Amino acid sequence: MTTTDATTLPGADEVRALTDLAERLARSAGDLVRSGRPDRVEVAATKSSAVDPVTAMDLASETHLRALLAEHRPDDGVLGEEHGWEPGTTGLTWVLDPIDGTVNYLYGVPAYAISVGVVAGEPDPERWTVVAGCVHAVVDGRTYTAGRGLGAYRDGVRLAVNPERELATSLVGTGFGYRADRRRAQGRVLAELLPQVRDIRRIGSAALDLCRVAEGTLDVHYERGLNPWDLAAGEVVAREAGAVVTGLRGRRASADMSVVGPAGTVAALAALLADLGADSDG
Ligand code: IPD
Repeated sequence: MTTTDATTLPGADEVRALTDLAERLARSAGDLVRSGRPDRVEVAATKSSAVDPVTAMDLASETHLRALLAEHRPDDGVLGEEHGWEPGTTGLTWVLDPIDGTVNYLYGVPAYAISVGVVAGEPDPERWTVVAGCVHAVVDGRTYTAGRGLGAYRDGVRLAVNPERELATSLVGTGFGYRADRRRAQGRVLAELLPQVRDIRRIGSAALDLCRVAEGTLDVHYERGLNPWDLAAGEVVAREAGAVVTGLRGRRASADMSVVGPAGTVAALAALLADLGADSDG
């Protein structure tokens, strides 16, 4: 197994193998989530607030992904939404969202996905280099894959972001946190932004949102509060389709803010978001 860190990245053959494995894992967890969805999904627990649910299937899907990784890549690290971080020894970490879009899963809204990313370096969006990833939409089976330097694909079709657009004609995706104080601040930002763009979409799965930017069914996406597992696989898909992935005020994308899309559109949106103080809850 190749040893890597933030400065020693895997070569093209290993990136291809990691991409293939990410896809196998995401599809396998997708089969589990698809076939095991009861008619009525119950909340098993809550996390950051009463409206931040965990279902039994979030836990089962992550357990399944971790078991496959233990079999195929036992020396890599794993960071997952439900079971935390287990460091590895290779410099690579698998970053897992066992169901991205859990509220949609709970209600049967057909926009939820398995997100499997691989990053080099610390599993922190401000420090990592995304290497490979797969986002598998559970309900319709759309599957997005990307490997660093190898392009981004949806079911074998090469993806490219939309041409740069003015904000006034841009379709903007976003999402909201689970805490009331953050939502209040996000609502204030949205009230300023909405009159200045074509329209807003809140689809409910950040991983799918980033893939939509990659395929051009959204122009740009921004969100405050994304976790590493919401971002990792979608980031590599978006980047490989030509997107810029950034934060505000010269920072990299982080939990404070991520803005993803064609460079010119991102520059205009990031400047407006900075003016609006969208990277704070004040
Ligand atoms: C959530 C979704 C949602 C985003 C939230 C995320 P989860 O992930 O990606 O679109 O707005 O910030 O937490 O909780 O369904 O895995």
